[in-house]
Amino acid sequence: MKIRLILAAIALCLFVAPKLIFAGDYIISPPPKSLDQFYPPESKTPRWTKQMHKISGAFGGVFVDMKENDWKNAEDGAKRFLESYTEASKWVPEWKDLFDLKAAQNFSESVASHDPKQIKKASGPVAKTCAKCHSKNYLPVWAKYHMPSVKKIKITDPIVEEEMNYKDFMYRLSANFKEMTVNFSQEQYMKVFQAANHFQKRIKELRSVCSKCHVSEWSRSAVSVKQFFVNDDILEVVQDLKKDLATGEPSPEKFWESIETISIQSCKKCHLVHQPLTLIQQAWAESEN
Ligand code: HEC
Ligand code: HEC
Ligand code: HEC
Repeated sequence: MKIRLILAAIALCLFVAPKLIFAGDYIISPPPKSLDQFYPPESKTPRWTKQMHKISGAFGGVFVDMKENDWKNAEDGAKRFLESYTEASKWVPEWKDLFDLKAAQNFSESVASHDPKQIKKASGPVAKTCAKCHSKNYLPVWAKYHMPSVKKIKITDPIVEEEMNYKDFMYRLSANFKEMTVNFSQEQYMKVFQAANHFQKRIKELRSVCSKCHVSEWSRSAVSVKQFFVNDDILEVVQDLKKDLATGEPSPEKFWESIETISIQSCKKCHLVHQPLTLIQQAWAESEN
């Protein structure tokens, strides 16, 4: 249920045409195999994505030029649009029907009228095909070709000093978190302290996995991704919590506030960013077995 809600929320943010969302039963199947040849590793570059830029540049260009009364370039763009859209329609047989070549031709020809009203009207049915395919296929394509899999990621657990996979590490981190809250409710503060110690070490170790996927910083004033979810502020919250425990009379108010901060700023926010596509990948892997 939760997964559905998260996906529905993502869907709502992403898609310009909400009417096209099949909200009731949004099913995410893997993209057709024939798309593989347009993405690494089969293709050197993500050719499908590039073709989209071609289509989109030509399509959008028509409207830019139309506004400027630059009809020569508008007509040129209309031609390039029809070519690139038609070409793409031949690439993935399973997606053939998601293109509307008649509507595309109609739109392309409408530009010769130099009549913005006619052109806009003719663009509607074309734009619908973009939105319909995107609302169905963005998530599958992102999950398959863009989101690195966590499968190969190993983390050395700092407490048991063993290598383990991401999920098992998460279970240990999560277990420490539970030990903290359960024991606090039972006023077993020594146990809370011990669990907080382990928790702190594990959160710190989690930083070692970021670079497996976040390979390079792209901006000049690069803020490391490690400033999020696993940053020093989170460690400090745990440190303060430990200090308060050491007094022997920790404040329940402060404790639960810290727990909530960690839970939202670290666990929840990281899960919201990283888990949706991972969950899709895992659901596919399971249905394959
Ligand atoms: C048959 C399906 C399909 C149709 C029709 C389609 N697209 Fe796409 N489009 C995709 C997929 C799949 C992606 C995601 C590509 C990726 O992330 O690698 C995409 C991505 C895009 C992107 C984003 C590229 C990026 O860098 O993330 C743009 C822009 C785009 N399409 C424009 C259009 C326009 C404009 C139309 C209609 C004129 C259109 N598309 C029609 C499937 C389609
Ligand atoms: C399995 C691969 C994977 C791992 C491991 C991973 N990330 Fe990401 N993360 C991604 C992808 C994919 C995105 C989407 C945008 C992108 O590619 O940067 C993302 C997005 C983010 C973003 C959003 C802003 C941005 O820079 O893209 C932050 C912040 C982030 N990750 C932090 C982290 C931190 C901190 C860690 C380590 C504790 C981490 N990630 C580990 C794959 C990963
Ligand atoms: C760096 C980002 C990141 C942070 C921070 C993080 N997690 Fe996770 N967590 C993940 C990812 C990614 C997965 C999915 C791993 C997989 O399925 O193999 C995951 C999976 C889990 C799971 C496995 C069960 C499930 O929901 O699928 C649990 C439990 C969990 N996390 C608990 C926590 C708790 C508790 C915290 C905070 C104390 C936390 N995580 C912090 C990224 C993070």
